[in-house]
Amino acid sequence: MLSLEKIKRRLESAGQSHILQFWPELCEDERDAFLRELSQLDLDGLRAHCEAAALAAASPDQASVDQHIEPVPKEDIGSVRKSDKRSLEEWENEGLLQISKNGVGVLLLAGGQGTRLGVKYPKGMFDVGLPSSKTLYQIQAERIHKIQELANKKHGSNCTVPWYIMTSEFTLAPTEKFFKENNYFGLEPSNMLMFEQRMIPAVTFDGKVILQGKGKIAMAPDGNGGLYQALVDNNVLQDMEKRGVEYLHVYCVDNILVKMADPVFIGFCVSKGADCGAKVVEKAYPAEPVGVVCRLQGVTQVVEYSEIQPETAQLRGPGGELLYSQGNICNHFFTRAFLQDVAQKFQGQLKQHVALKKVPFVDTCGNPVKPTKPNGIKMEKFVFDVFPFSRSFVAFEVVREDEFSPLKNAEGAAGDTPTTARRSLLALHCRWATGAGATLLDQHGNVLPPTASQPAGDNPPAQCEISPLVSYFGEGLEQLLKGRTLQTPFILDEEGAKELSAH
Ligand code: UTP
Repeated sequence: MLSLEKIKRRLESAGQSHILQFWPELCEDERDAFLRELSQLDLDGLRAHCEAAALAAASPDQASVDQHIEPVPKEDIGSVRKSDKRSLEEWENEGLLQISKNGVGVLLLAGGQGTRLGVKYPKGMFDVGLPSSKTLYQIQAERIHKIQELANKKHGSNCTVPWYIMTSEFTLAPTEKFFKENNYFGLEPSNMLMFEQRMIPAVTFDGKVILQGKGKIAMAPDGNGGLYQALVDNNVLQDMEKRGVEYLHVYCVDNILVKMADPVFIGFCVSKGADCGAKVVEKAYPAEPVGVVCRLQGVTQVVEYSEIQPETAQLRGPGGELLYSQGNICNHFFTRAFLQDVAQKFQGQLKQHVALKKVPFVDTCGNPVKPTKPNGIKMEKFVFDVFPFSRSFVAFEVVREDEFSPLKNAEGAAGDTPTTARRSLLALHCRWATGAGATLLDQHGNVLPPTASQPAGDNPPAQCEISPLVSYFGEGLEQLLKGRTLQTPFILDEEGAKELSAH
């Protein structure tokens, strides 16, 4: 820990002396905690960070990308919908082979504060109201179990898919506690590595670090692109190397449909020799607010919807399809070699994005204030900003209804809520069950029409939930469900599957 004198001097030279303005009022414990916090701060980089934040907020990058934008070449885009059954099987086999050889890991981005959802605990602990009451973390843990089992069955292996979980100061302790209390959902704790990303100070529009309390700086995680620094800080790449993990599937905590270590995606990327890949979904409509995977002056990247003019977003190809339709869903493939390159050579070149936020603070008299309009700047890095460094990038288009339904907002918002997430999962499971030859009945014993598996609208899907421990992507259900009539609410868990296969 640095001494008060040292910190004082360095804050002065960074133009941030106000940080210690309430020092005389702090008690012994508060002083200790504050000194510890300040000692961990990058004091040398503080002036540059504050000046850059203020400058970026004052002159937002309005550069229009429309003159330089090009679609990703067709040959670099795979598609579940447009590929034949044989190719999909080949990719799946390749993916399962790599998994069976312990060559694949998954990495969860779980350091976000989930402000829009507005709960006090990490988003992964959220229960969207499924019949089983499973949380997002539990669903993901069970999918890891199942994919290991599928690979083992096919290859007679005993493989592990290690689970790397990036957290932040806000999410680490509750996430650790939650997994421990739930016995890691049956996973081996030594195969789960939780680590923390860095935090950076929020800054006022005139470049001053914001004090959240008299002895506390307003800190925020450095964005999901903080991953690359966190990989270095926590020796994650060394752990991957030790385990022989060559490929990493990186994903967001909030997508209830995420297929972790999806063998089809992994197999596709591996067989194309890609060092970096992204799953995309077709944009629903030209103005849909999602980032688009495209090229700018020949360099692959994600361009935010706000950076493209509406006329460009509406452009269509000869077949009538949107030219820029590859919506980014934060599902990425990286080789370990690529991540090593990023860590060693490109780390410092990652773009900084400016977010203007309402940051609670103490005023000059020490009174706490909850601002009603944005008063602070948070600088963030994004996980996809490494795409330009890739030498062999591929995109893989998947079916939105099968793979993407993020939980972003609290109930009552127009979309991406607990209800939409729950309905997407139930609708998918209804499709699996009816596709496997089952008939679903409602509470009154009436046969549910096919519309019962529609996720949106006034008709919620039937309450049919299939445990990931029974099926990962709908496989193996025919032998259990064909010709059966199922009363909903219906939960198919491992016990139920055993009973069904016995009768
Ligand atoms: P979002 O950008 O949706 O942010 O994160 P969020 O924190 O979940 O929610 P809001 O914006 O505060 O409402 C997308 C993914 O990136 C992770 C999140 O945990 C989520 O999985 N993330 C975000 C991080 O891991 N670190 C960060 O600093 C920010």
